[in-house]
Amino acid sequence: MPVPALLFPADPLNPRRPDPHYTWEARLLRELGGEYHLVDHDALLAGRAEEAVRRVPSDCGALWYRGWMLPSSDYAAFARALAGRGATLLTSAAGYASAHELPGWYGVFEGATPSSVWIPVPARVGGAAGEAFGAAGGAAGGATGGAAAPCQGELADAVARLGGRGPAVVKDYVKSRKEAWHEACYVPELADLAAVGRVVERFVELQGEYLAGGVVLRRYEEFARTTAGRPEGGGSAGGRPAVGRSTGGRPAARARRTVEARVWWLDGEPVLVGPHPDTPDHPAEPDLTEVRPLVRALGCRFVTTDLADRADGSGWRVVEVGDGQVSDLPRGVDASGLLSSLIAT
Ligand SMILES: Nc1ncnc2c1ncn2[C@@H]1O[C@H](COP(=O)(O)OP(=O)(O)OP(=O)(O)O)[C@@H](O)[C@H]1O
Ligand SMILES: [Mg+2]
Repeated sequence: MPVPALLFPADPLNPRRPDPHYTWEARLLRELGGEYHLVDHDALLAGRAEEAVRRVPSDCGALWYRGWMLPSSDYAAFARALAGRGATLLTSAAGYASAHELPGWYGVFEGATPSSVWIPVPARVGGAAGEAFGAAGGAAGGATGGAAAPCQGELADAVARLGGRGPAVVKDYVKSRKEAWHEACYVPELADLAAVGRVVERFVELQGEYLAGGVVLRRYEEFARTTAGRPEGGGSAGGRPAVGRSTGGRPAARARRTVEARVWWLDGEPVLVGPHPDTPDHPAEPDLTEVRPLVRALGCRFVTTDLADRADGSGWRVVEVGDGQVSDLPRGVDASGLLSSLIAT
């Protein structure tokens, strides 16, 4: 049986080459004897999946994708367009959504990850803002073209489900705005519903049209942090490449970052344990005993888990799960074992 090839996003300025962010991975893959084809990420996001995959040869069999994040609906269209050419993405559309979106993996990882609740937020059609909560701060009405923030009642209900008090973190089903920590990510006290509303509303405003799925509230847990404050804002502003290409250049958020290990799993086995892209110089050695059976229970072939050590040393926690195809791999990490495993399956 032929081995799988990889798909990388093409460079928008030179469609015959991989996007510069993925050049080193593509080069390493070739050195390892692997093959890749290129896809048009912008066309995928624009709903033109057939056009996006037109450079993928017909009947090329099994494929893994390594590229920018895609909303789950676009990934499904991507998989269908490839199937139409006789090619199969080895992660199904359902598998992608399970690993990529918090509600897809949370049930399996509950207990090993901070307690979380979520409020689905329908994409805004026609610009109606809905009843926004906590309009202070000038964020009333949300972002142009974005979704409307959850209403006061929905937030109060979500806060109650999360225990009603204590600090929390806000994100959507996929990403946070951690670079705007105090403004759009961290809630010091859930009992202060007006403050919850302000943070959520600012988060929804900043996410704009990229808000994925809905608003998630997670109980804040104290994790071990870097000791020396690295200059922030110059590196990846998201450990997983975001839907667009905007990374880096964002203002400083917190002086000390959580030290996370990113563990790459293929068929339930850890094929690479590396640093999180936000702290590439801080390798961690997580204990995988508890996480391994959970990854297997999730049942997705290629996933990542970001693990952080509790500040009190009481054990490793799953900060988030991701689809391995769209998780970022920091430069400097030896990815040869990972890539070799992908093309050997
Ligand atoms: N429940 C929590 N308790 C404490 N800190 C948290 C919690 N959730 C998230 N954080 C902090 O916020 C950061 C961003 O959260 P998270 O990883 O969920 O979002 P993200 O935007 O998807 O990040 P990534 O760049 O890994 O894709 C984490 O790296 C961690 O430092
Ligand atoms: Mg993360």
